[in-house]
Amino acid sequence: MSKVTVVGAGFYGSTTAQRLAEYDVFETVVLTDIVEGKPEGLALDMNQSRPIEGFETTVVGVTTGTDGSGYEAIEGSDVVVITAGFPRKPGMLRMDLLEKNAGIVRPVSESVARYAPDAVIIVVTNPLDEMTALAQLASGLPKNRVLGQAGMLDTARFSNFVATELGVPVGSVRTLTLGSHGETMVPVPSACTVDGRPLAELLPAEKVDELVTRTRNGGAEIVALLKTGSAYYAPSAAAARMAKAVADDAGAVMPVCAWVDGEFGIEGVYLGVEAEIGRDGVRRVVQTPLTEAETAALHEAAQAVRAKQADVAGM
Ligand code: LAC
Repeated sequence: MSKVTVVGAGFYGSTTAQRLAEYDVFETVVLTDIVEGKPEGLALDMNQSRPIEGFETTVVGVTTGTDGSGYEAIEGSDVVVITAGFPRKPGMLRMDLLEKNAGIVRPVSESVARYAPDAVIIVVTNPLDEMTALAQLASGLPKNRVLGQAGMLDTARFSNFVATELGVPVGSVRTLTLGSHGETMVPVPSACTVDGRPLAELLPAEKVDELVTRTRNGGAEIVALLKTGSAYYAPSAAAARMAKAVADDAGAVMPVCAWVDGEFGIEGVYLGVEAEIGRDGVRRVVQTPLTEAETAALHEAAQAVRAKQADVAGM
């Protein structure tokens, strides 16, 4: 693979571009923004870190217009990560960004389809599940080639909390969250292990519930502390790993926002599930074994998200 584009050079976009460049697997990372000079300046700065960090990928910064001008630069991209949009302010729900960010994600997706129709699109703009659905509608790309980043991030937060609570290496912890990147997030304690041992054997149920709640509110906790802007180190790590999984084409299984149609008995909705990722995006949705309660929660999440995704069609 040779080219990956990151649309939006805020903290989320620029750290994603930096991580992608440092992986040194793409020839070019294109970073775009509508703020004149910002992507060019950040690209120059990142390129100057190449001799120190030792990577050959070059970063190209491009100012784009809201009319779609400048998007020629993304031509031939294998992957496009859409980060453009407003972050939350303290006290806001991700859903409060729906209309404002729909007005950004729709034209961006149209421009991406125009210049990089063969790309895999990874959406990170909030509200995540709805913006992923909108990016697919507006771009017209096949559903397997449009996915969203959320489960990787929520799962990483959950794992970090568990590792910290137990005082064990984060590498020994496996957790999982499915469902929406929002109120109906579905942490899956039955799939959580530490060195292969079920989490339920290591922590009392109330403690697991506490960590589940903290995970569900993980983004808001950081927004409240930062006061302006939202998290970006863990989110960018998640998005960049997804883009790398597309480039690697090895079928890595990750929790992502993918089109679900029939799996788990759920029809036609973008939802957080585990999926096998490759060059064409989602190869297949993995039907993770779930308890009855977890399955019910996933269905509930699907219903909530489906209603909102229907709304974005007209935005
Ligand atoms: C978060 C935002 C990026 O969860 O959705 O931090």
